[in-house]
Amino acid sequence: MIADERVTDYIYSLESGWGALCDGIAREAAAENIPIIKKETAALLRTLAAAKRPGAILEVGTAVGYSALLMAQVMPPSCRITTIEKYEPRIRAARENFRKAGREESITLLEGDAGEILRTLKGPYDFIFMDAAKGQYIHWLPDIVRLMAPGALLFSDNVLQDGTIVQSRYGVERRDRTIHGRMREYLYRIKHTEELESAVVPIGDGVALSVRKDLKTHEGSGSVSSRDKSGS
Ligand SMILES: C[S@@+](CC[C@H](N)C(=O)[O-])C[C@H]1O[C@@H](n2cnc3c(N)ncnc32)[C@H](O)[C@@H]1O
Repeated sequence: MIADERVTDYIYSLESGWGALCDGIAREAAAENIPIIKKETAALLRTLAAAKRPGAILEVGTAVGYSALLMAQVMPPSCRITTIEKYEPRIRAARENFRKAGREESITLLEGDAGEILRTLKGPYDFIFMDAAKGQYIHWLPDIVRLMAPGALLFSDNVLQDGTIVQSRYGVERRDRTIHGRMREYLYRIKHTEELESAVVPIGDGVALSVRKDLKTHEGSGSVSSRDKSGS
């Protein structure tokens, strides 16, 4: 946990739930150790999705459909969600949850490896929720940026890895070093990609928010990559 525990508990106490189905999915997920979005992060995700009023949402990492259903509750009626999951038992559970919520029409679940599926998608999407294998974010980024419409928002979860991201490579367990290095590279890349305006927010396990700029209207924005290119 990055934030002070008492502050997080207080924030939790303000939440009154998101309906019997979603609250039940969250309870089951906790009991079965299925990783789903934390409450405070979910509140931010919903708020941004509501503000953005997207026409098309892409989610990478469905699990049992919890976050897709949370976004569906706040998106405009005409919006469609495409969500990707590769683990068969979770795919079955997610499909069942979408059916129970009456969302089979508005949520399309694509089964398989996100890296392969992302390559085949055309987009554009105006809201993307990245919430799958953390070590792959950096590899998926080129496709993600290609799939973002100008003004699209990319919401990447788990980017601060419970705070261990601040430790040096040698301060993290040997088995976690690859993911640690790749996540640092991801954060560097989203902060230094000219097309993106990004902020890292220490909420939950860490969230990175990135907006795809329309470079025609952002010329001379002074982004680090444009400074790098000019050599100044
Ligand atoms: C943190 S969970 C997603 C939680 C979900 N977004 C929620 O909050 O309700 C990450 C999911 O991504 C899936 N996943 C991991 N790597 C993947 C990949 N390469 N392709 C597709 N799905 C993947 C895992 O099976 C897991 O169910």
